[in-house]
Amino acid sequence: MYICLCRAVTDRQIRESVENGASSFREVREELDVGTCCGRCVPETRELIDQALSEI
Ligand code: FES
Repeated sequence: MYICLCRAVTDRQIRESVENGASSFREVREELDVGTCCGRCVPETRELIDQALSEI
């Protein structure tokens, strides 16, 4: 499912980014470009990152 429509980033990519070592919104953003246009996806992206981090 697309979380960031502007940059075409999916929840799966965000999860994989965390599983591959990203531990903050900033690190995920640097890798995937998520949230760098309109910013509407930022709250949901942060939630997904928190969720993924808690499952590691
Ligand atoms: Fe992610 Fe616009 S939906 S920056």
